Amino acid sequence: MKIDEFSRWVRERQEDVERALEGWVSEESPAGLGTAMRYAVLDGGKRLRPLLVMAASDAVSGDRASALRAAVAVELIHAYSLVHDDMPCMDNDVLRRGKPTVHVKFGEAQAMLAGDAMQALAFEVLTPDTGMSPQLMSTLVRLLARASGHAGMAGGQAIDLASVGRQLDEASLRDMHRRKTGVLLQASVMMGAACGPAGATALAGLSEYGAAVGLAFQVVDDVLDVTQESHVLGKTAGKDVDQNKPTFVSLLGLEAAQAYAYELRDQAHAALARSGLGQAAYLACLADKIVERDN
Ligand code: IPE
Ligand code: IPE
Ligand code: MG
Ligand code: MG
Ligand code: MG
Repeated sequence: MKIDEFSRWVRERQEDVERALEGWVSEESPAGLGTAMRYAVLDGGKRLRPLLVMAASDAVSGDRASALRAAVAVELIHAYSLVHDDMPCMDNDVLRRGKPTVHVKFGEAQAMLAGDAMQALAFEVLTPDTGMSPQLMSTLVRLLARASGHAGMAGGQAIDLASVGRQLDEASLRDMHRRKTGVLLQASVMMGAACGPAGATALAGLSEYGAAVGLAFQVVDDVLDVTQESHVLGKTAGKDVDQNKPTFVSLLGLEAAQAYAYELRDQAHAALARSGLGQAAYLACLADKIVERDN
């Protein structure tokens, strides 16, 4: 696929997601909660998870309206996880998406509540009164709940906090990264795939693709933390060393961590090939983008 065509697709899908989020996250919530929620989720972020949802849906000729709902829901969960991740009781960060973090701007209680409300809103978006079959709703809700809860993102975040100051072995580090970040990216792919007809071979290939890009994503996040500057990242660089977090860079060294990310990218491409899907070019390009990104 030509790079221009992919870039245009990315831009158009990002605009779709922005418009949809704009409609879903209302200013109207009580006592300024809507303002904090909008600040947390609008106008920022690479929207990689929504792009994975929509690329996977396109790969299976999925229903676009359902995929857009799924994309919004995943981004709401992701943005809520960032709000909480940045709070003083977790990573204690003051910069996110190039702006002061939500708790810095609105206070800790409002940040906590904004995260809570965004999480609930994600599931509201996935369960409309009309327009989606009960079966699709339950599949999407199940995938997102499993990826964000105790066995997925929240569980991984708990391991992350319990691991400060310790060096984990490679298997444990991989497990932590998969949970805290990888499974939500993998769920994004599977939610997109759920929006259309997909056979067992396609689903197995997509699941492997999602696992590989999901882990690659967090390995690259570890790399960028040491190689990039805060103004490029839009968040504080050098946080992991500062806070004594075990990362793929601290475990393997910078070069080996980068090489591992590329190895995972290759695994993602191989899994796509095994999926037998003929329209997976956007997913292939997204695997490259996830590993080659600079923020
Ligand atoms: C950052 O995610 C947090 C992690 C899960 C490592 P992104 O790099 O996708 O952040 P945004 O959405 O673009 O801000
Ligand atoms: C965050 O991991 C994972 C989440 C579930 C939000 P990090 O703590 O490494 O993310 P950044 O580097 O702050 O974005
Ligand atoms: Mg963290
Ligand atoms: Mg953090
Ligand atoms: Mg990080």
